[in-house]
Amino acid sequence: MHEVAGILEMSKIRVYEVATFYTMFNREPVGKYHIQICTTTPCMLRDSDGILDVIKNKLGIGVGETTKDNMFTLGEVECLGACVNAPMVQINDNYYEDLTTKDMEEIIDDLKANRTPKAGP
Ligand code: FES
Repeated sequence: MHEVAGILEMSKIRVYEVATFYTMFNREPVGKYHIQICTTTPCMLRDSDGILDVIKNKLGIGVGETTKDNMFTLGEVECLGACVNAPMVQINDNYYEDLTTKDMEEIIDDLKANRTPKAGP
């Protein structure tokens, strides 16, 4: 961030403000699978809390943490624009939508087994 500030000839705090506001900027290394769960109102009303509990329990990590094997990082984010198919998570570049807790368990099991779960609604 200091280097960016120098290149752009702006104060470091301006770079920090951007990097800490937008969740697409990762200030720490993330695991192979970066799970970003939306917990904004439409997803919350459709049980994003239950989905979040499944992720935490299956991976043994909390929000902002990475598994010891560096396979999974869990982040909590604001609306990702897929509210019509809430609840949803983004994993790397894929959206997984209309989730149930059972779906989330299966998605994590697939990723642990190096299978790519079908993305989308
Ligand atoms: S509220 Fe979750 S995607 Fe919009």
